[in-house]
Amino acid sequence: MHMPKPNENRNSRCIILGCGGHGRVVLDILRTMHTYDIVGFLDSDTSLHHRRIDGVEVLGHPDEMMAIREEHWFDCAVVAIGNNGVRRGFADHLQASGIELVNAIHPSANIAQNASLGKNIVVAAGALVCAHCQIGDSVILNTGCIVDHESLVGTATHICPGARIAGRVTLESGAFVGIGATVIQSIHVGYEAVIGAGAVVIEDVPPMSTVAGVPARLTHTANATSQKNSWLISELDRAEQIARTTRQTDPTPKPVS
Ligand SMILES: CC(C)(COP(=O)(O)OP(=O)(O)OC[C@H]1O[C@@H](n2cnc3c(N)ncnc32)[C@H](O)[C@@H]1OP(=O)(O)O)[C@@H](O)C(=O)NCCC(=O)NCCS
Repeated sequence: MHMPKPNENRNSRCIILGCGGHGRVVLDILRTMHTYDIVGFLDSDTSLHHRRIDGVEVLGHPDEMMAIREEHWFDCAVVAIGNNGVRRGFADHLQASGIELVNAIHPSANIAQNASLGKNIVVAAGALVCAHCQIGDSVILNTGCIVDHESLVGTATHICPGARIAGRVTLESGAFVGIGATVIQSIHVGYEAVIGAGAVVIEDVPPMSTVAGVPARLTHTANATSQKNSWLISELDRAEQIARTTRQTDPTPKPVS
């Protein structure tokens, strides 16, 4: 296999960690950007190894990353895992291994010139980031969400499709804003808090709690939520697992060499 030398005049070679639903979105974004050559996916689900998803091979397990890098060479990576804590953990691991984390930003997203962005950020199609926002590392700004002026979005937060964050909101690290939720101006959302789908948040949200409804009310406080969130995480993982087994990979699996 041809291994491009680091100083060759070429696109950077990028690997995607995670080939679930979010990984597929990230692949589409990276292809649309035309900035990176996609080397392959890594995924802990061994049943997907050496299969192709949208024409891209699942090269192996994240634990084998350095050996895979020797064989296929990549400069950079995006961690494309929906779960906030897991995404953050892998991002830390990759950085510690000296692999550059890059952002996947769909060309139709609109980001203010004076907004600041960290690393390993995914900004999906149609998302808007307004003036003076600060977006931390490993954040997902999902399809069509809005983050209005001067908002602070902490590390490994996920703002789901169509959610709207008004001006001067703070989302602490690991917060999850459900699909279509609205957070009014100047609200403070604590770390790892969960905001239910379609909620309208008009009061600060304590860390690790869950709120839902219009207006949003506390459904679980921190202690209950640490259990409830693990339930939510395992439910999301289970849903992802089912989706993986039912979704098509590309028809002809490549033989294991
Ligand atoms: C809020 C949420 C996190 C679940 O919280 P939960 O506390 O585990 O939910 P439960 O199933 O125990 O429901 C508790 C109560 O809240 C209600 N509820 C749950 N989700 C709700 C929501 N989004 N809005 C309003 N009420 C909701 C339930 O109907 C239930 O009401 P009841 O006690 O009167 O029967 C979840 O429903 C949700 O909205 N997740 C976001 C999913 C999402 O945005 N996915 C997009 C991925 S990109």
